[in-house]
Amino acid sequence: MAVPLLDLKAQHATIRDEVVAAMMRVIDQQTFILGDPVGAFECDIAGLSHTKYAIGCANGTDAILIALRALGVGPGDEVVTTPFTFFATAGAIHNVGAKPVFVDIDPRTFNINPAAIAAAITPRTKAIIAVDLFGQMAAIEQVNAAAGSIPVIEDAAQTIGASRLINGKRVMAGEGTTIGTFSFFPSKNLGGCGDGDMIITQDDTLCDHMMKLRTHGSRKTYYHEMVGYNSRLDTLQAAVLQAKLPHLEAWSAGRRANAAFYDAALADVPEITTPYIEPANTSIYNQYTIRVASRDALQSFLKEKGIGNSVYYPLSLHLQACFSHLGYAEGAFPESEQASREVLSLPVYPELSGAQRDEVVAVVRSFFGR
Ligand SMILES: Cc1ncc(COP(=O)(O)O)c(C=O)c1O
Repeated sequence: MAVPLLDLKAQHATIRDEVVAAMMRVIDQQTFILGDPVGAFECDIAGLSHTKYAIGCANGTDAILIALRALGVGPGDEVVTTPFTFFATAGAIHNVGAKPVFVDIDPRTFNINPAAIAAAITPRTKAIIAVDLFGQMAAIEQVNAAAGSIPVIEDAAQTIGASRLINGKRVMAGEGTTIGTFSFFPSKNLGGCGDGDMIITQDDTLCDHMMKLRTHGSRKTYYHEMVGYNSRLDTLQAAVLQAKLPHLEAWSAGRRANAAFYDAALADVPEITTPYIEPANTSIYNQYTIRVASRDALQSFLKEKGIGNSVYYPLSLHLQACFSHLGYAEGAFPESEQASREVLSLPVYPELSGAQRDEVVAVVRSFFGR
C-alpha cells in the first residue's frame, strides 16, 4: 500500500463545505484586499498566541524580513541563527543586507543550542533568530537569556499552537520572544490555499512599524514614511485559515497520537533514533523526523515501497553555495552537518489510517530485518 508523506485532499474532504462557504463570502463581498476576515483572523491568532498584536502578511519569508526591518537590522549588522532550518530564515537576514552568523544545534531537538550563542555575539549583533523545528519550540527562555538586551525573533513557521512550559507558565509558540513569525504554507499544521503568514508581538512600536512595512511603509494611503513591501495577508487566505483554525488542536493531537504510535512501534530498532521532545514542550509534530545512519539507503527503500518521506534538510545553510562568501568550512557545525546526513521525515498527518500507519512501520522495520 502506498502512503503519501502528506495528504491534503484527505483533510480537505473533511472541511470542504466550511472552506468553500468562507471563500464564497469573500468573493460575494469582493473584499479581496484587507477585507474583514484578515482583521478577524489576526484577533484569533493573537488570542491563540496570548499576544497583544498579530499582523497578517503574505508569507513566512516576508514575515522574517519585516520583523528584521522593524528591529532596524540592515547592512553591516549580524544576526545569529541556526544553520539547520529552511532557507528562508537566513535568506531574509541576507535580504535586509545583514550577515547570518550561524551557531550549531542541540542534536537531540535539532533546535539552536543556546549554550553556543554567547560566543557568536559581537558588537554588530542586532538580532537572534531561534527556529522551532519540526513542531517543537526552541529553548527560548535560554535563547533570551543568552541574548540579553538583543531582540529575539522566533521563527515559528512550523509550530503554530505548540507550547512550552517556562517557569510554570505555558508559553505559546511565538509568544515568548520580541517577535514571533508563522507560516501558513499549505503543508503546515494550519495551512492555507496558498501562501500566508502572521507576525505576533506585544510591542506597540514594533507593531506599528510592521503594519506600515507590510503596505509600502504607509498607514495613510499614498503617504509613505519608509520604503516597505506589498505583503498583506490575502483576504481569501484569511477566510480559509479562519475556517480551519477551530480544527487545529484536533489535527495536532492526531499528529501527536501518530507520533506516539511510531515511537512505540520503532522503540526496539536500535538503528533508529525516534524524535526527542523536551519534557517542557508540547510538540505539534509538523514533521515526524527520525535519525538513521543508513539514511540514504532507507530513503531509497521507502521510495521503492511507496512510503512517502522527505529529508528536511539535506544541506546545512552554512554550506550552501550562495553563502560561500561567509567563509564557513565543512565541519564548522558538526551537529547540524550530521543531522543533515541522518534525518528522515515519515508520514504523520492526522488523517493517516491505522492500516497506513501499520504499513509505514512494517516497511521501516523490514528494512532493518525486523
Ligand atoms: C522554518 C521556516 N521558516 C520560514 C519558512 C518560510 O515560510 P513561507 O514558505 O511561508 O515563506 C518556512 C516554510 O517552510 C519554514 O519552515
